[in-house]
Amino acid sequence: MQIQLRDLKRQYIKLKRKINREISIQMMNTDFIMGKPVEILETKLSDFLSVNHSVSCANGTDALVMVLRAWGVGAGDAVFVPDFTFFATAEAVSLVGATPIFVDVELDTFNISISSLKLAYDITLKKGLVIPKVVIAVDLFGLPADYDNLTDFCRYKRLKLLEDGAQGFGGELHSKKACSFGDAATTSFFPAKPLGCYGDGGAVFTNDDKLAELIKSLRAHGMGSDRYENIRIGYNSRLDTIQARILLVKFDALIKFELKKSNLIASKYNEKLDDRIIKPSISPGYYSSFAQYTIRLSDSKLRDYLKTELSSLGIQSQIYYPIPLHMQAAYKESDTNPVPLLNSIELSNTCLSIPAHPYLTKLEVDYIIKSVNRILERFYSKT
Ligand SMILES: Cc1ncc(COP(=O)(O)O)c(C=O)c1O
Repeated sequence: MQIQLRDLKRQYIKLKRKINREISIQMMNTDFIMGKPVEILETKLSDFLSVNHSVSCANGTDALVMVLRAWGVGAGDAVFVPDFTFFATAEAVSLVGATPIFVDVELDTFNISISSLKLAYDITLKKGLVIPKVVIAVDLFGLPADYDNLTDFCRYKRLKLLEDGAQGFGGELHSKKACSFGDAATTSFFPAKPLGCYGDGGAVFTNDDKLAELIKSLRAHGMGSDRYENIRIGYNSRLDTIQARILLVKFDALIKFELKKSNLIASKYNEKLDDRIIKPSISPGYYSSFAQYTIRLSDSKLRDYLKTELSSLGIQSQIYYPIPLHMQAAYKESDTNPVPLLNSIELSNTCLSIPAHPYLTKLEVDYIIKSVNRILERFYSKT
């Protein structure tokens, strides 16, 4: 048996008829970049999220970069980012010339810690080397960040709040959709994301008319009223029409059954996996898209043992993320860590994502549960 962390092949087989039809229509239509389906997708996403504007682009990293650029964030500015996330969250900050300030995360949600953020803000302000401008909150593994407290804090301190919803699409907080929080939100359509295409893609979501106009200009070489009028230096960051067509098919599947199925599997894991495993906790009011189902083990030795043993049984698992951002070589030399980042380090040593995708069979789910529990039993009986 071979069980993938996310099985895009099975998803394709299920959606094949519709996807193939869309691809073949596109081959005949030949409006390969920013064709009509891109507009249709953007409208559909705006309706779903209840936001005024969805502006698609080439990937989730560009989406973050363009929002920061549009807000005029650059050299001398501080942007607070969680230390435990994919590299692109901080990279986008560096790409616009600003300084990422790493903030610790909560052990139980994996998301940015409000108390650590407050401390990081106070220290940064006191040092006076860079000026606090933006907080980027990440909806890690599909769980929305604590937007109740983040929104209050950012309003009070007059900071912009940017939701990095690359993994968050499909999640909810108090029935408000992930990717609709903050002054702007972004997502990624990278293939393995909850809503993924067959290549790179991304989007910016906002209710701010001016910001949306600016992003539309930035994504197309700084265009003005016309494609060949260029009023600022921008990017080549458009979404391919073929990807929009694929996303329209996958969006329906995500809403109709994929989210429900992943949540059902997650509930079953929470109930049946050995109690010595720390399972993802979803607080009342939150809904996760379960981009990943990520468990925590007592230490790195057990985590690594479990990963190796699962692999020998044909079950893929992955460590997201093995290196906290502040320990990455690219940031090691920079002195931008005003606060302790202990939870982030702890998570990088103890977490493991296991398959919980919507195309797992009941048999496979049971096999994963049985395998994980047996491996744990064996580990504990030996130690
Ligand atoms: C949290 C987070 N932010 C940003 C990105 C960047 O998205 P992309 O790969 O589409 O540039 C990713 C993608 O993995 C991500 O997980």
